[in-house]
Amino acid sequence: MSTENFLENYKLEGEKLEILTYPNPILLKKAEKVTEFNDELRTLCKNMLFTMYKAPGVGLAAPQVGKSIRLFVIDVDYEREKVTRADGTEDYNLSDFHPLVVINPIIKEKDGEQIYEEGCLSVPGVYEEVKRAQHVVLEYQDAYGKTQILDAEDLRAVCVQHENDHLDGIVFLERLSLLKKKFAKKKYLRDQGKE
Ligand code: CO
Repeated sequence: MSTENFLENYKLEGEKLEILTYPNPILLKKAEKVTEFNDELRTLCKNMLFTMYKAPGVGLAAPQVGKSIRLFVIDVDYEREKVTRADGTEDYNLSDFHPLVVINPIIKEKDGEQIYEEGCLSVPGVYEEVKRAQHVVLEYQDAYGKTQILDAEDLRAVCVQHENDHLDGIVFLERLSLLKKKFAKKKYLRDQGKE
């Protein structure tokens, strides 16, 4: 991959990575800081974006694809059109991508409150309301190691906090009230045939 910004003119291409599901131990541990910003890292970013769009989801953190490093990708803006193919199967037509790669994030500011029904590609089938900050300011590095600032509100702020939690080994179920958490985990593990 060249050193040009691979996020410009993003095209839906890459390798679909396997998404680990809760309670895989990689999802439960704190991820390591990224120290090398090389082509290998950028290929991982590209494949994570591809995997996220194909899911389709709005965010994906490296631990979810088995890499315990402080990296996540998000896009809360792209277009998803559900289509039925000639053979009767359903698929999505995706367009208008706004990919963002976030590495070694630090939440600098947090304010307000919002409640949003969250889901997670690593906790399939579970959707629960979670209370988060309405606005966050994030300092992070891009795929070339350059420091950047992200000012995020509403859904983008939800997504940033959800993905940032993944880097600390926290799945969104942990953000629920004690009773809801217990119920949601039990139901999830039963549905997954893990209990
Ligand atoms: Co998630």
